[in-house]
Amino acid sequence: MPQILAIRADITRLQVDAIVNAANSSLLGGGGVDGAIHRAAGPDLVHECRLLGGCKTGQAKLTKGYRLPATCVIHTVGPVWRGGEQSEPELLASCYRNSLELAAAKQLRSIAFPSISTGIYGYPIELAARVAINTIMAAAAEYPVIEEIIFCCFSDGDLAVYEAVIREVHQ
Ligand code: AR6
Repeated sequence: MPQILAIRADITRLQVDAIVNAANSSLLGGGGVDGAIHRAAGPDLVHECRLLGGCKTGQAKLTKGYRLPATCVIHTVGPVWRGGEQSEPELLASCYRNSLELAAAKQLRSIAFPSISTGIYGYPIELAARVAINTIMAAAAEYPVIEEIIFCCFSDGDLAVYEAVIREVHQ
């Protein structure tokens, strides 16, 4: 199993093989972590994204990292929270699974995820953290090339939630 950990950090500062972007289906940038990643990567990122033809909810696409310390960016589109009965958990799980699969296909060894869908898209953090951690724990063993998986939380509150869920799952 890879090392799985939660930290509090700005994902644009992480020196890992891939950071994951919580994008929208246009892949042309936006607010939140998406805006921060595009600002830090510089304009070449959106130029590459324009060639990708967008991305469906739950899917993922890979680009270079340009000026980021991370080598690659995996752009995935989380579901908008609509109360939980519009396949939000399945779609969120598929963001994590598809991102891991892409990373492994590129032989990337370290990957950092933001808390997908829990900002502008409104997914409740406790529920989203559970989906994120359960999905990663279940899928990680399939991809032995991946050595390190980081949950990059942006606030102390989010980090506390992730740490609690990780502890619970480890019991
Ligand atoms: N590093 C790590 N996490 C961050 C950072 C950062 N620099 N900045 C924000 N977060 P959000 P979503 C956290 O809203 O809910 C965009 O406009 C943030 O605190 O970025 O999936 C896209 O284009 C929260 O915990 O993504 C889409 O339209 C988490 O990242 C839409 O927002 C995700 O919040 C996607 O919404």
